[in-house]
Parts: sequence; structure tokens; C-alpha cells
Amino acid sequence: MTVTHLPEGISGIHVLPAGHHDGPWDSIIVPPGTKERLLGTAVLVLRHGRALRSLSGPPHGLVVLSGPPGTGKTTLCQGLAQAAATAVAGRGATTLAEVDPHAFPSEMLGESQRAVRRLFTETLPELAARRPHTVVIVDEVEALAVRRATASFETNPVDVHRATDAVLAGLDALRAACPHVLLLATTNFTAAVDEAFLSRADLVLELGLPGEEVLARIIGSSLTELATLWPAVRPLAEDGVLHAELAGRCADFDGRRARKVILAAVARCPVLAEDPTRLTAEDLFAAVDEAAGFAAPVGAR
Ligand SMILES: Nc1ncnc2c1ncn2[C@@H]1O[C@H](COP(=O)(O)OP(=O)(O)OP(=O)(O)O)[C@@H](O)[C@H]1O
Ligand SMILES: [Mg+2]
Repeated sequence: MTVTHLPEGISGIHVLPAGHHDGPWDSIIVPPGTKERLLGTAVLVLRHGRALRSLSGPPHGLVVLSGPPGTGKTTLCQGLAQAAATAVAGRGATTLAEVDPHAFPSEMLGESQRAVRRLFTETLPELAARRPHTVVIVDEVEALAVRRATASFETNPVDVHRATDAVLAGLDALRAACPHVLLLATTNFTAAVDEAFLSRADLVLELGLPGEEVLARIIGSSLTELATLWPAVRPLAEDGVLHAELAGRCADFDGRRARKVILAAVARCPVLAEDPTRLTAEDLFAAVDEAAGFAAPVGAR
């Protein structure tokens, strides 16, 4: 369910678990143990956040996913929200709120600070009161929690300090009022995110570019999805040796680029686009080499 009248600074509200949110978690392929750590941290905060408040070093309920563009950060956050909501569903539903960091424009810092304060001290606590569990996603958090050390050289250092201070104060206020709220933040530029913000994170997960083995699995998974639409593609989807060979030519590809290259293979010529059942291994190699810059684009098969 998506609510149409959204509070200030919120770009989406969903009630989880919901069947149509099932895809993202499984679609992202990461090294072993990564999803367990994410889900473990999420369940601990959602399930025991209130009890853990009595510890000397309680969790902040903050998870930061960082990494280059196209490495699955946003998708993994959305998937984690659904996976965590499913894990705690026995104790009630979960609200997923998506914060729009660009709703707080830095050129209007005075107002932006007030808006950030309202977000953490009013909007999010009000949302958290609706259901037993709440997950908040802040995508591209560097727009909100600008690193003060580097920002000092910019034109308006005092305002940047104040804006980031507002985020940190807001985070601490939210933690005190709602220790069971889980905040998931993404950034593709950790160096731009304030250290004090990062130090509050219970888990900072670096998602690097996928290695060859992960790339092969992403290619296999993209072909498998294609085969659900066009079953004739299944032999390509089941050919692990082919996936490994293709992955070997995809050095430095991010996950997004690896998925796109499969579509690029189908889109190489109109005949193939019209009838993707004609896709061959040669088309896949040609598309990969083209994307990797090894071969000049070719027009027809
Ligand atoms: N490790 C991966 N496994 C499978 N698919 C991946 C992986 N990484 C990225 N993708 C695919 O790439 C696409 C982009 O992912 P997503 O938007 O989550 O990346 P991102 O890290 O948030 O990128 P950006 O920093 O540009 O916002 C998605 O379709 C996703 O399925
Ligand atoms: Mg993203």
C-alpha cells in the first residue's frame, strides 16, 4: 500500500511485509554472510531496541550501506526492510518510510535545518507510533549529513555545520524517543558523509564492485529472469560455464551494468529485440565486449 498524502520530506510509505516487496532481497547477490549481518542488525533493533536502551552503549539503529554506483545499495535496503519485516511479523506489521534527502535543499539552510529537525522529532516519531516496527530509508545520505571537515572550505561553512548538527541532534533525539526504529542509509561517497554520523552507525557495510564469481551469478540470474518470459532462453540461463566466461570479460562492471548487458544483447538488432528466443551465446559475448569497450558496435547479426 502506498499512501498518497505524504508528510514533509517523506517520499514513500509502505506497510510490510507485503508480497509485492519480495523481489529485491533475493535479486541482490552479495558475498556470503553479508545478508545475515544486515538482517541480524535489523532484527536486533526492531525486536529489542527498547530493551537495549539500558546498555551503556545502546545501538543507534543506524545501518549505512556505502559503495560505488550500481552496487545494489538501494535495492538491498528495500529488500532488507521486507526481510526484517517478515522476520518480526509475528509481533505485528512494519511501516517502511522513505526519506527524500533532496527535500532539504542546502541553499535554504535555515529552513532546511528546521525541516530536518521536524523530520526527526515530529514526522518520524509520529510514523513510528503507527505500528510496532518502523524502518526508515535515507537514500544518498551525503546530501543530508555533509561532512563538516571538508565542507568548511565551501562557501557557507557555518550553515553546513548547522545542517549536519541538526541531523546528528535529530538522530540522537529519535534514538531517545524511538529506540526500536531502524534507519537504513546509503551513500556512494562515504568520504562526503560526516564522521560523527558514521560513528553512530551500528553497521557500516562497504559494497565493493562485484568479483568475477558474483558477476557470473548476476549474469545467470538476469538470464533466468529472461527465461521466465521466453523459455527458449533457458539453455543459456543454465550454462554456468558461459556465465563464468562472460563474467571474465566484465572486469570493473558494477551489478547494474552486468544486468544491463543482458538486455543490451537482446537489443543489439531489431530482429532479436522482436524475438528474444533467438538470443545466442555469441550475442551475449558481443554485447559484453561492446560494453567493456573491447569491440566496435556492430549493427546487424
Ligand atoms: N550485487 C548485485 N547483485 C545483483 N544485482 C545487482 C547487484 N548490484 C546491483 N544490481 C542491480 O543493479 C541495479 C541497480 O541497483 P541499485 O539501484 O540498488 O544500486 P545503488 O548501489 O543504489 O546505485 P546508486 O549508487 O547509483 O544509487 C538493480 O537493478 C540491481 O538489481
Ligand atoms: Mg541507490
